[in-house]
Amino acid sequence: MTMILGLESSCDDTSAALVSSDRRIVAQAVVGQNAAHEPYGGVVPEIAARAHVEILPGLIGKVLGEAKLSIDEIDAVAATAGPGLIGGVMVALLAGKGLALAAGKPLIAVNHLEGHALSPRLVDPDLGFPYLLLLVSGGHCQLLEVRGVGEYRRLATTIDDAAGEAFDKAAKLLGLPYPGGPGIETLAKSGDPAAVPLPRPLVGSGEPHFSFAGLKSAVQRAVASGEYRREDIAASFQHAVVDCLVDRTRLALDRSDAPALVVAGGVAANQAIRTALADLAKEHGRRFAVPPAWLCTDNAAMIAWAGVERLANELVDDLDAPARARWPLDETAEKVRGAGVKA
Ligand code: KG4
Ligand code: ZN
Repeated sequence: MTMILGLESSCDDTSAALVSSDRRIVAQAVVGQNAAHEPYGGVVPEIAARAHVEILPGLIGKVLGEAKLSIDEIDAVAATAGPGLIGGVMVALLAGKGLALAAGKPLIAVNHLEGHALSPRLVDPDLGFPYLLLLVSGGHCQLLEVRGVGEYRRLATTIDDAAGEAFDKAAKLLGLPYPGGPGIETLAKSGDPAAVPLPRPLVGSGEPHFSFAGLKSAVQRAVASGEYRREDIAASFQHAVVDCLVDRTRLALDRSDAPALVVAGGVAANQAIRTALADLAKEHGRRFAVPPAWLCTDNAAMIAWAGVERLANELVDDLDAPARARWPLDETAEKVRGAGVKA
């Protein structure tokens, strides 16, 4: 049995967690910064980085205290090393290096996207490799074949906005607070998904890439027209995103013989998206897995779990591991215009 301390600070959530190799989340603390960024309608990197500096040490003390463990009793420190807002990334990475150095423990520099990608295995012991992963977060929208720890093949990505970014921009247009996903989901419950005609960018195209910028512009026009109720716009927007995700994932399923479909990342917290992809997997005779909503949005338990998996594969890092703003999971995939740097 190994016990890993995980640290996360790559965007606007500060988090520390202790996770063991027998899939126990021994302790976890997450502090969001929504109130600090809300006046700006999005994450302000400088504010986020400063907040991580203030919050993270207290969270490390808290989880160790709750678990009644000293740093000498853990097996390794896993810290997010990218991709993300670089000022924030540096906070958890340097904290992790300091702890690893002081305690003489291995450091594991975790790719935040690998944290999302492996998170379903933390709660689902039967989910083996390979699986097809739809990774939908504030900064990414990708389809990846997960072949093993550290082994990823990207099948598709977004050519403009990420799925979460689309939710956040549509929410802003509807006067909802940042982050926009939860607000749109709630508002959509009382709206008609067929009320507003909205485009489905790239649906039907021969490569499984994504595009959401045109959808945002259409929402902007719908709001400006004054013709529609806000809840109808929210419901129609969410429905359009679901259609795009399902159509693109269907194409990727046709091209992959992976026995399971997995959805992860903050947008996977959305119930309409979870249900639609579960139905798609069923239709294709694939197993379906999605982490619980609290494990979809940014957290250190997924980073600690990636640490468990990497340590088991003897993938540890030196103390000079770099902080990376950009860090694709599949380094061989061609760069696509507009792919974001946020995680
Ligand atoms: O994975 P995450 O917490 O952070 C990044 O690594 O980006 O994802 C955050 C994104 C935000 O864009 C947020 O609006 C979206 O996830 N999100 C949702 C929901 N909850 C969070 N989108 C749709 N529906 C939700 N319920
Ligand atoms: Zn994330």
